[in-house]
Amino acid sequence: MTTVIERKKLLTLDEFTIQQLRLFPNATGQLSSLMRDIGLAAKRINAEINKAGLLDIFGVTGDLNKHGEEVKKLDVFANNELTNVLKNGVSCAGVGSEEWEGTLIFDDAKSNQSKYVVLFDPLDGSSNIDNNICIGSIFGIYRRNSPVGSPCTTADFVQPGDRQIAAGYVIYGPSTVLVYATRHGVNGFTLDPAIGEFCLSHPDIICPANGSTYSINHSNFFQYSVGVRKYINDMQRWNEQVPDAFSQRYVGSMVADMHRTLLQGGIFLYPGNADKPQGKLRLMYECNPFAFIFEAAKGEATNGKQRILDIVPKELHQRSQFYCGSSNMINRLKQYLKWDI
Ligand code: AHG
Ligand code: MN
Ligand code: MN
Ligand code: MN
Repeated sequence: MTTVIERKKLLTLDEFTIQQLRLFPNATGQLSSLMRDIGLAAKRINAEINKAGLLDIFGVTGDLNKHGEEVKKLDVFANNELTNVLKNGVSCAGVGSEEWEGTLIFDDAKSNQSKYVVLFDPLDGSSNIDNNICIGSIFGIYRRNSPVGSPCTTADFVQPGDRQIAAGYVIYGPSTVLVYATRHGVNGFTLDPAIGEFCLSHPDIICPANGSTYSINHSNFFQYSVGVRKYINDMQRWNEQVPDAFSQRYVGSMVADMHRTLLQGGIFLYPGNADKPQGKLRLMYECNPFAFIFEAAKGEATNGKQRILDIVPKELHQRSQFYCGSSNMINRLKQYLKWDI
């Protein structure tokens, strides 16, 4: 007997966004075209990462970025690809990046007609690049407040995360997956290398209300607050009573840790400490996009005191404590964080 295995017919990212347009008759198509642009940049970044060991693209440039971090060659490559593709497209009036001090306002006739601005972390998990560990790109898309027809302004970028109209990430791993969220849901697309297209592989992602992993940099345990330490201790004690109830997992690439947490449930914590009360992660480039994605997938994200998406930013590069994941696990964590208030 011959078994015929039919290949699934998966929608491409373009087909999917165009079908979404039909559901919203007033949509102009700018968001669809923006997602196509980001998908193109992701494919180019992916192609470069795949060849990293063959080209002279490992290592640092010798510069430090606004956050005092060594800039890697791939940070620069990814930053340029995202910037150029959005500048050449028709939907983006300007961009802001973890790697820059300020923003880049495109200010040309085409871009001034665009409704959106985009903030991104072009390459997340830079310190893992040279070791061939998963890395990613993260983006948040905001509707500009300044009038269409004129250049966008810096104020268009400094908006609370709740004003995002979409957000997403790309994970460059064993396969390359682009996940993006709107208020209508979260969908994941795997890059099919045979046709060079992102194809809908993870429709309607929901973050399970409970999970069995917690993700934190354990080496900083003694610098964490009383509440966070109590929480971690209790997770470990739980395992004493119910063997294997929880596993600790920490890749050190936020995108990889969040991708696992989104699909399987769990909790991710990046607390502050005495030296860095707000922790390390950047509100505008890292926390807000993931908070938006997780809420759209029925998960939660908080800085311990308030919803991440409610934080009114003071500046582009501010940091925030970040606790994100399964709704029941975040709610339980909040009880512990009361120790710190
Ligand atoms: P980036 O590479 O964009 O600067 O981000 C690195 C971040 C994030 O990906 C990860 O979760 C975190 O750094 C890990 O930090 P620690 O090494 O302090 O745990
Ligand atoms: Mn960095
Ligand atoms: Mn990052
Ligand atoms: Mn980065």
